[in-house]
Amino acid sequence: MVGIRGLILGIETSCDETAAAVVERGERTLSSVVASQISTHVRYGGVVPELASREHLRAIVPVVRAALEQAQVTLGDLDAIAVTSGPGLAGALLVGITYAKALAFANSLPLIGVNHLEGHIHAVLLREREQRRTEPAGEEAALALVVSGGHTHLYLAEPGEGTWRYRLIGRTVDDAAGEAYDKVAKLLGLGYPGGPWIDALAAFGDPQAVPFSFAQVKRKAHLTGKTPRTKAQKTAPTAKLNPRFLFSFSGIKTAVLRYVELHGMRAEAAARAKRLFGRERAERQAPVRPPQTRDEALAFCPQPTLDLLASFQSAVVGDLIKKTLAAAESLGAARIFVTGGVAANRELRTRFTAEAERRGVRIAFPTPALSTDNAAMIAAAAWPRLLAREFAPAALTADPSLALG
Ligand code: KG4
Ligand code: ZN
Repeated sequence: MVGIRGLILGIETSCDETAAAVVERGERTLSSVVASQISTHVRYGGVVPELASREHLRAIVPVVRAALEQAQVTLGDLDAIAVTSGPGLAGALLVGITYAKALAFANSLPLIGVNHLEGHIHAVLLREREQRRTEPAGEEAALALVVSGGHTHLYLAEPGEGTWRYRLIGRTVDDAAGEAYDKVAKLLGLGYPGGPWIDALAAFGDPQAVPFSFAQVKRKAHLTGKTPRTKAQKTAPTAKLNPRFLFSFSGIKTAVLRYVELHGMRAEAAARAKRLFGRERAERQAPVRPPQTRDEALAFCPQPTLDLLASFQSAVVGDLIKKTLAAAESLGAARIFVTGGVAANRELRTRFTAEAERRGVRIAFPTPALSTDNAAMIAAAAWPRLLAREFAPAALTADPSLALG
């Protein structure tokens, strides 16, 4: 393997981005192309799985072609093809897997299946290697918070013999943090995905205005010892996890909903949408066209809404920081990775960095562009597997609830 150039084409189609990238030896991004489906899903205020699969089918060929062209390589130059095999939407994953298999077969290339969550962790390693802060041989363990639209999971990531090993330390027992961002934004008539909107608007509100709080998550006593019911419970049961490292975001989502109803903010938002954007959606009182620019969003949100958004974000960020640092301390982890879509959030980055520094823990994030879904992270995660010759079986298929560790 020493003699090879180490060029891996990564393909990622687990949710609503069709992405392809070429990465050399897990450390140099030659191209990273992401075709977002936001315009397709925005009118529904969330991802519609059937539409996602259709859009992936439409985009996969041009996206892969663009990634190869931008990297100035041909299929013949590649050493392997890597593809996300789960977790994610079954139909969406299958588009990437089927195309990757066909490309690998036609070009006699090995195929590597990558767990999407491992990809997010490698987005940080890719950045570190690109910045040459770490020589691959000297890589050390990190506590990784993967915080996205589908996950809020804490893993201890340790370099092993060639490939990395992961141990689940904590996770959400209900919604992911990004899901809470998206739902709160939707409730207030803001666009999808909601995270970037709340990120942009929270700076204009008072984070102390609404006192949200997070208590330690209690395991549901009545479920102890029973067969797990949800997919998340099956793939990552909470019974063996320390309750201090469990997250829950459905409570704050409901608290925001109650606050909004109590203060008549939803009806107000609908009336303002009608006034500002002319139309109103029939089935729900959200605007057909949410604000499109930050200035439009600022005109759309009165001060109490900005205060609510700031308070929501401040509470969520505070909870993520508190539990992650507590876990790092209890495990003796000297460094923390924060990755996934929500890791693009500016308040989260600033406060996490300050708090980690205060406690003498090193912290690293991917670039904001590599925080959200992309294929460079998939190609980067595949490099140690190529070295270890861990290839996907011919029967590789989509695993929507694939667990890590
Ligand atoms: O990692 P990602 O692209 O897809 C999943 O694997 O889920 O994460 C998408 C999530 C969405 O919930 C989106 O609202 C959130 O990440 N997000 C943000 C920001 N950018 C994206 N949340 C807060 N602040 C942001 N700047
Ligand atoms: Zn993701």
